[in-house]
This record gives sequence, C-alpha cells and structure tokens, in this order.
Amino acid sequence: MSDFVQQLNFHARDASNESAALQAALALGFLEHLPEAGSREPVPLEALARHVGGNLRGTRAVIEPLVALGFVLLEEGRGYSLPGTTAAFLRDTAFASRLHEARRWWHVAAKLPEAVRTGAAVEWRGASWALLGRYRELFLGPPVQAPSAEASDFHDRLARNFLRTQALVTAAELGLLERMVSGAAPLGELARGAGASPEGLGVLLGVLGSMGLTRPVGDDAWGFTEAAARALDAQSLPYFQRALPATMAYWEAFGHLDEAVRERRFRLDLRDPETARRIYQENASRISSIFASHLRLSRKAADLVRSMRSLAGARVLDVGTGSGVWGSAFGLADPSTHVTFLDSPHVLDAVRPHLAKLKLEPRSRLWAGDCLGVDYGEATYDVILLPQIIPALPPAELPGFFSLLARALKPGGVLLISGYLLTDRRDGPLDALYFALRRYVSNEGDVLSLPEFRALLEPVGLTAARAFDMPIQQVVVAHRGDVPWPAATAA
Ligand SMILES: C[S@@+](CC[C@H](N)C(=O)[O-])C[C@H]1O[C@@H](n2cnc3c(N)ncnc32)[C@H](O)[C@@H]1O
Repeated sequence: MSDFVQQLNFHARDASNESAALQAALALGFLEHLPEAGSREPVPLEALARHVGGNLRGTRAVIEPLVALGFVLLEEGRGYSLPGTTAAFLRDTAFASRLHEARRWWHVAAKLPEAVRTGAAVEWRGASWALLGRYRELFLGPPVQAPSAEASDFHDRLARNFLRTQALVTAAELGLLERMVSGAAPLGELARGAGASPEGLGVLLGVLGSMGLTRPVGDDAWGFTEAAARALDAQSLPYFQRALPATMAYWEAFGHLDEAVRERRFRLDLRDPETARRIYQENASRISSIFASHLRLSRKAADLVRSMRSLAGARVLDVGTGSGVWGSAFGLADPSTHVTFLDSPHVLDAVRPHLAKLKLEPRSRLWAGDCLGVDYGEATYDVILLPQIIPALPPAELPGFFSLLARALKPGGVLLISGYLLTDRRDGPLDALYFALRRYVSNEGDVLSLPEFRALLEPVGLTAARAFDMPIQQVVVAHRGDVPWPAATAA
C-alpha cells in the first residue's frame, strides 16, 4: 500500500480516534497527574484511574495510544510518567489553552457538510460557530505557534486530525470525490454539482489540498493530485467511501469518551440489542462487499491449518461469522468439510448468498444464537474459528467462553483466533489500539496480546498457542499440544 493510501485511510477513521484519545486524556486530567520521568515514581494504572475517577479499562484504552505515540512513558510493572518534552509543552499555559480550545470543536466539526453548503457559520448548543474560519485558521493560515516540534505534533494530532476526517466525510457526502474522479473542474461548476457555496467549497478544497488530495489547476479549477488520482478511481472510490459512515457512527460517542471513562455511560452501546443489530448488520453488509479480498486472507489461514492437520471430513465452527468469509474458506479447503456458521439471525442473512455462490450450502449449517449462551456440546468440532469476535465480547465473559470452546474441541482439534494482536506490552500497533478504543467507546470487548490469550487458553487445556502473520490480520492458533506446528515460523 502506498504511503498516500495509508495516510488517506488513516485520515478516514483512526485520525479522529487519535484526536479523541488525546482530547479525553486532556479532559480527564491524565497528563497533569503524571510526573515528569525521573522526578517522582511513575503512576500505576490503578492509581491513575482512581485519581481521575475513571474505570480501569477506559483509563487504559485512552492512555495506551499516548504511550504508543511516545507522549507518555510506560515503565513495565511500575507505571506511567511523562517524557521531558511532553512535560515541557504542558507547562506552556498559552499552548495548553490552545489544546483545550480544540476540544470545543469536536461536535461542531460534524456540521462541516452544512457549513460547506451554506458558506456560513453553524449553530450548535444555541451559539454560532465559524467552522469554516476555524478550518481556514488551522489549515490555510500561518503555522500554529508551538513551543517545540513535539508540541506541534501533539497539537496536530489533537486539534487537526479530527477536522481532516470531517473534511473527507464532507467531500464524500457532497459527491465531490466522485466528481473529481473524472478530472479537474472549475470551482463554480464543482460547487453547483455539490450543492455547495463557492466560499465553503473553496475552504474544503484547500484543506483537502493540505492533505495532498487536491490541487489547484490553472486560475480557477481544482483536481486530484497525481497520488490521489492513482489511489482513487471509479472502482476504488466506493470502497474507500464506505468506511466513512462507519466512522460517523462513532462520532458522537467519541465526543463523550471522557464521560464513558468516568461514568461507564456509552452513547453508542453495543450491549443494547437494537444498536447491536443495526451496527452488526451494517458491518456484515460492508464486509460482504469485500468478501473476495477477505476470502484470500481466510483461505491462507485455512492453508495454515491444513499444513498442521488434515481437514478431510473436518467439522468446522465459525463463531461470529459476519459475512461467513472465514467458515467459507474452510468449506473450500476440502470437499468433505462441514461448516457451522454461528451469528445472530439478522446477520446470517448476509451469509446465505455467499454460500449459494460458492456452492457450499449442502455442507453448511446456519446457527442463529448468542455465542455466549449456546450449547456447543463436547468433542463436537475439529476446527473452531473466532474471526474478529473476541473484541466484540465482554472481557469478563472470556474465561467461561474459552472453557466452553475447549470442551467442544475434539482431540487433535485446533482453535483459530483472527484479528488484531497487540504487542506483549500493549503499546502497539497504533491501528490496533485505535480499533481497541472504538471497542471501548461502544461498550464492546478488548483487543488482546499473545500473553493475554495464553492466560485464557492455558487454564482450559489449550496449552500450545502461537501467533502467525497473515496479510492484513494476525492469527493465533491454539491446541492441546497434540498437533504438530507447521515448518513455517511463527510471527
Ligand atoms: C467484527 S464482526 C466479525 C465478522 C467476521 N467474523 C469477520 O471476521 O469478518 C463480529 C461479529 O460477531 C457477531 N457477534 C457479536 N456478538 C455476538 C454474540 N454474542 N453471539 C453471536 N455473534 C455475535 C456480530 O454479529 C458480528 O457479525
């Protein structure tokens, strides 16, 4: 993936999660409470959570990205402190007040489409907000004064990143990106096509320009940069744009992240059945649209398992199947496997067309149920798949869940978990930490490290567990020590 595409994808989602984490750390007073490294003892997580009146998991979910970014130090087994550079810029009161000011714009920023349409200020909570002026100031004016390079980077991530995400959301919503795929056009024509004011659109195009997406052409026209034209064509654009409504589904919740950490009140609560139904259904249809590319990944995982043990006649269970892409790969891996796809009933509707297309229906079973409450039986399955389901489940339920699954695994059986895997210190990778933060803010589960998985697997007899790198995701493969590992080395 080119640097430009990576950056674009980052701006479409994680950039705003990053702003939210930094803003919440500020709102919760984390940073003020941490000592400069070497001046006092580091503060353990429990003490930090207590001090800010937050719960442990929320406190950890917010501070972990700051550690990964280097703005906070984590001393293993001791706690958190601030590097001298962070401590120094936080002491600069004028700079600190600019950071606090940026937090006020989170909810207002979601009104950017309206501001670009009208070219005027927007109303929020009974006041008028010059949102376009704010964009002009932060993106099109002289550089913001910051006491150091680290301070400037911190400000960029906290104050600008979420505005970049909104610029992309707005460009997609106004159909601007679609229009630009077919080439440069005069500003007036773009504005008419997008139903936008020329002033508002001029600001948006300038901001997108600062992100390397657009450039002025001649006196009055705008078009994609070369990198953007290479990355976004009629085929890839819909795929890219599909991520943006999902980003917006979390916007309101991220604006109240500090409240979630303090009060465990979640504005987007996936423990609420109706909300879960809506979000998971949208998710399944989105993954369905990229079924083919995910099937390449899941087939590699099936190859990995087949290199460890035969799949002939294997009974496979895919838990939290979503689009069905993981179970399908195991259905295709051997003509005699039988696959059970488990998810809630409305999600299973997304699986059926794929099974029909792949001619897997005769060897498949659709099982509607709650994976934490169904009876898996004893020694029922040769392979159990947990693709991206662990982060959807309450962490407290995991020991019992793994115990049920271990019981359901036949001798010589293999459990395969796929998705993000954190480093052993839980200090990266950053995109996995932002994924984990989204899980926290929507009251879902957590992303784990390999040692954390081992701590869940060993007590239920799955004493052998290794991680393997796959394209996009990682997999953890576990068994009772009765299956040989493949010759290929583990991650
Ligand atoms: C992030 S999606 C992963 C989908 C798919 N496995 C994949 O990797 O593409 C999580 C899936 O788990 C399902 N899920 C969440 N909680 C569940 C539960 N308690 N019981 C059954 N399915 C659940 C959701 O409906 C959703 O389809």
